[in-house]
Amino acid sequence: MSARLLLLPGDGIGPEVMAEAERVLECLKTHHGLAVEWSFGLIGGAAIDAHNDPLPAETLEAAQAADATLLGAVGGPKWEAIERALRPERGLLRIRSEMGLYANLRPAMLFSELAAASSLRPELVADLDILIVRELTGGIYFGQPRGIREENGERVGYNTEVYSESEIERIARSAFEAARKRDRRVCSVDKANVLECSELWREVVTRVAADYPDCTLSHMYVDNAAMQLVRAPKQFDVVVTGNLFGDILSDIAAMLTGSIGMLPSASLNARGQGLYEPVHGSAPDIAGQGKANPLATILSLAMLLRHSLDRGDLAERVESAVGSVLASGLRTADLAGDQSKPVSTQAMGDAVVAQLQS
Ligand code: IPM
Ligand code: MG
Repeated sequence: MSARLLLLPGDGIGPEVMAEAERVLECLKTHHGLAVEWSFGLIGGAAIDAHNDPLPAETLEAAQAADATLLGAVGGPKWEAIERALRPERGLLRIRSEMGLYANLRPAMLFSELAAASSLRPELVADLDILIVRELTGGIYFGQPRGIREENGERVGYNTEVYSESEIERIARSAFEAARKRDRRVCSVDKANVLECSELWREVVTRVAADYPDCTLSHMYVDNAAMQLVRAPKQFDVVVTGNLFGDILSDIAAMLTGSIGMLPSASLNARGQGLYEPVHGSAPDIAGQGKANPLATILSLAMLLRHSLDRGDLAERVESAVGSVLASGLRTADLAGDQSKPVSTQAMGDAVVAQLQS
C-alpha cells in the first residue's frame, strides 16, 4: 500500500523549496522503491487568494486523510493588512490545533561543513546536536481570554498563558521518549520564578521524569536558557518547553547552525500523523528569485520519512546526500558568506537528487 502525502507549498519561497523536495520525493519513488503518492493543497496567503480562507476545509480534510503533510511556508506583506482571523499565519495555527499536533520537534544539528557559517566560533558549535521539543497547541498562543478591550479610556491588549497538567505531561513524555534515542538528557525551560503556569509545568515535568529513570532532567529559566544557548550550546541535548518560549529558543538554536535555511521540523499528534515544515518561514524578500535554500524542506521530508513512514533508512540516505552536497562546497546565498559564489535553489535540489541517484 502506498503512503499518501499532502504537499502544501504555501507562500513566498514555499513553492520554490517545495518543488525541490518534490523532486527528491520523485527520486525516492523511482530509484529507491518508496511506495508513495502525493497531492497538493492550498494554505496561507495562497488559500486566502483562492478561497478567502487561510485553511480551507478541503485542505484540512486532505491533511486529516493523509499519512503526513509537508508544508513550505506561509505569510507575506500582501496579506498583512487583513484582519487577524484571516491572516496566513492563522492557517498554520489552525492546522496545528485542529489536527492536535502538539509535539513540535525542532532539531538543530550542525553539518560540520557549515561550522564557519555559524555566528558563533566554530569550536563552540562543532558537532552541535540539540533537539528542541516545543509544545505547539497550547500556552499563550491559544489561551483564553485574549483580545484588545477598552479600559479607562484606553485600549488594553491581553493574552493568557495556560497549561493543563495533561498537556504538560504529554509533551514531557514526548521529550523523554526522544531523549531515549539520544543522549538521555532533558532540560525543561520555564519561567517558574515568576509565572504560576511555569510552576505547574516544572512540577509536572519532574513527576513525569520519575518514569524515565534512565534519563536525567534539569530545569532552566528561559532567560538563562537563551543566554546559555549562545554561550555554550553544546551543554544541551533535549530542551522541552512551552509554545512561546519554544518559538523564540528554536530561532536562536537555528542560527547557531549557520542558517535558519537548514532547519527542519516535525509536528506530531497522538495518532502518529505529522506536519513537517522548514523552520525558516516564507522570506518574501527573496521569493521568486531562486535564491532560497531548499535543504530545510528536504530535511523536513527526511523527518517525515522517519517519523510518519517508518523509513529511517531512506531518511538517513537523504540526510547523508545533503551532507555530501555541502561537503562538495555547494552553498545557497544564506550559507555562502563572502567566500563562495552561491548556487540557485534548483541547483541545490539538482545536487541532492544527483547524490541520491549515485
Ligand atoms: C514558527 C513560526 C510560527 C509560530 C508563526 C508563523 C505563526 O514563527 O513556526 O515558529 O509562531 O509558531
Ligand atoms: Mg517561529
